[in-house]
Amino acid sequence: MEGSSFTKFVKFLFILLAIISNTKPSLATRNLAPKPNTDFIRKSCNATIYPRLCFSSLLSHANSIQTSPKLLTATALNVTLATAKSTSALLSSLSQSHGLKPREIDAMKDCIEELSDSVYELRESIGEMCKLEGFDFQVKMNDIQTWVSAALTDEDTCTDGFEGKAMNVKVKNDVRKLIMNIAHLTSNALALINRYVSLHG
Ligand SMILES: *[C@@H]1O[C@H](CO)[C@@H](O)[C@H](O)[C@H]1NC(C)=O
Ligand SMILES: *[C@@H]1O[C@H](CO)[C@@H](O)[C@H](O)[C@H]1NC(C)=O
Repeated sequence: MEGSSFTKFVKFLFILLAIISNTKPSLATRNLAPKPNTDFIRKSCNATIYPRLCFSSLLSHANSIQTSPKLLTATALNVTLATAKSTSALLSSLSQSHGLKPREIDAMKDCIEELSDSVYELRESIGEMCKLEGFDFQVKMNDIQTWVSAALTDEDTCTDGFEGKAMNVKVKNDVRKLIMNIAHLTSNALALINRYVSLHG
């Protein structure tokens, strides 16, 4: 009897210790780390068509964005470019997978080409973004809007190319998911660019 209640007590102690040692560090870090301003990102993302994707894609950059609309916009473009590049690489390897019909490979190749145009256009827009200091803000932002709109059009063209064709449903859905994601990120970046322009007055 005594032995078993002692074991229970020891177990209880261990559980208590586990709880304390689990909660303590997180409490400590919560107090020490500067709280990133996620409200600013949430509010800004509210102006986009896909606010949840916008928020989740920018959240890990909250500390560097702070409350700067310019850094927010530049980061959104950088995240979009990085995703466009990785999507393009993923499609390239998908297009080399076995069992694809020539028709599917063709559509995939067209899509990869559209995506590489879109990568180029996003890069140009980021280049302009880096040169925003000085005069001609409106002209440069106008160029950026044009580049990013073109990138979005290219991504849409890629999905359109898949819709019309009789293809393996799984291949179609996989590609569609990948392209939707990058197109939504691009659309969000464009909305943040437009917002930045309107804030600049
Ligand atoms: C988001 O926008 C809607 C309407 O556009 C508004 O009602 C809501 O308060 C906004 N939320 C935030 C967090 O700004
Ligand atoms: C975006 O990427 C460019 C080019 O790599 C870089 O110079 C710039 O600092 C980045 N901007 C942000 C806000 O991360």
